[in-house]
Amino acid sequence: MDRYCVFGNPIAHSKSPEIHAAFAAQTGQELHYERRLAPIDGFADAVRGFIAEGGKGANVTVPFKLEAVKVAQALTIRARAAGAVNTLHFTEDGIVGDNTDGAGLVADIVANAGVPITGKRVLLLGAGGAARGVVLPLLEHRPAQLVIANRTVATAEALVEQFAALGGEGVVSACGFAQIEGAFDIVINATAASLSAEVPPVSPSVFAPGALAFDMMYAASPTVFLQFAARHGAQLRDGLGMLVEQAAEAFSLWRGVHPATAEVLQRLRAQL
Ligand code: ATR
Repeated sequence: MDRYCVFGNPIAHSKSPEIHAAFAAQTGQELHYERRLAPIDGFADAVRGFIAEGGKGANVTVPFKLEAVKVAQALTIRARAAGAVNTLHFTEDGIVGDNTDGAGLVADIVANAGVPITGKRVLLLGAGGAARGVVLPLLEHRPAQLVIANRTVATAEALVEQFAALGGEGVVSACGFAQIEGAFDIVINATAASLSAEVPPVSPSVFAPGALAFDMMYAASPTVFLQFAARHGAQLRDGLGMLVEQAAEAFSLWRGVHPATAEVLQRLRAQL
């Protein structure tokens, strides 16, 4: 049976085995997917060991997404743009590194929430790894404007420079939280602020009427950012759908069949 796994440290919390088992059952694919705790200084060896055991592919989570770029022998365009790899595919030609996080975000916004990105004003809060990973897939949907706002403005400016040549010219711009101008149809929180129960200091006026507020984090109850957005009339979406959709993208890469996600998402939601 073909074998896959998710590498992380810690890894016990990962929902990926349950998600991929559900996709496999639904699509009639025979595969085994497990959690693998890689030592902090032993990720590359853990990957090589898994390949030697016959592994066909792997997901990569915290803290190994940057190291996975180096382990890969070839990178997809979106992995290169993200500067991070969350999906490895062990092929006859070597280890291919991909990044399905941005595609997962976009699928959750467009297909699951039913909110088009094309022609819309999008505000991305944060400019770290999580933000960088979603810029290219967002630009591929041709928003009217993509503003990247960050506490450290220089990091956001570096992203603008990077993505100008990748479809972002005239579309993507950078600023600090206090300099954000206008209202947005989609506001995405890609900062790590929710982890410490903080809200990025943005004005409530960033939410256009009926805006979608998206937090890449998820929890049993809405994050403080989503609570803030709810008080100002936004529709809310947390990161659980993105988690399921990035997994569906990885599954599709490995198995050539794209699973349906609604039921899996519903089940995970009920378990939070
Ligand atoms: P990740 O991979 O989760 O994106 P990261 O690369 O460390 O992690 O980036 C964290 C992001 O959250 C950055 O944009 C960071 O802002 P700075 O670049 O100014 O450090 C942002 N961030 C972290 N804590 C924050 C807070 N309390 N309020 C606002 N932004 C915060």
